[in-house]
Amino acid sequence: MELFLDTASAQEIKKGVESGLITGVTTNPTLIMKEGRDYNEALKEICSIIKGPVSAETVSLDADGMVKEGIAFSKIAKNIVVKVPMTVEGMKACQRLTKQGIKVNVTLVFSANQALLAAKSGAYFVSPFVGRLDDIGKIGMDVVREIKQVYGNYKFTTKILVASVRNPIHVLDAAKIGADIATVPYSVFEQLFKHTLTDAGIKKFLEDWEKVPKRK
Ligand code: G3P
Repeated sequence: MELFLDTASAQEIKKGVESGLITGVTTNPTLIMKEGRDYNEALKEICSIIKGPVSAETVSLDADGMVKEGIAFSKIAKNIVVKVPMTVEGMKACQRLTKQGIKVNVTLVFSANQALLAAKSGAYFVSPFVGRLDDIGKIGMDVVREIKQVYGNYKFTTKILVASVRNPIHVLDAAKIGADIATVPYSVFEQLFKHTLTDAGIKKFLEDWEKVPKRK
């Protein structure tokens, strides 16, 4: 399973790329708002840091507007993937952008039926939001499992990109189900490395190393 960073912070993306473990980035208007900078400028910088797919989200509500925004985004860099919402207009835009050779990430997906429509519209990525489903008392990962089954039944090539990841358990569950990608906040990426026994083990080995007789 690939790991993407769900952030618009150039600093976090640089650190992710340096780790050798991050292969893509997802952004959205909320993440850009947090950075307090122009979206296109931020995207240009992000695409210069990472070679893998960088998702950029449209904000129009009609297909014409989404296609126009998507084409403009695609001119920023080769690795841009255009995000459109799971709506009737979003699926029209997805079909049109895909026909033009522009990759699309269908976002705000909360059911396997929505994911089926995204795949039928030629989406490159589908983004089920697990954390937001958990927030309303549903089990977000159940939707990911259903999508995996539906896509497997028909050999859809749309990649399952698990989004709205809030903790390492989401990452583990996504990997157990066989999702293609989990996009994670930088804080969750850091948590994946951590284990108290690893820290304690390093401490003990270093303490013992100090007690080993050394040649002068
Ligand atoms: O990029 C979309 C998604 O990951 C949002 O996550 O935490 O705002 O539900 P969250």
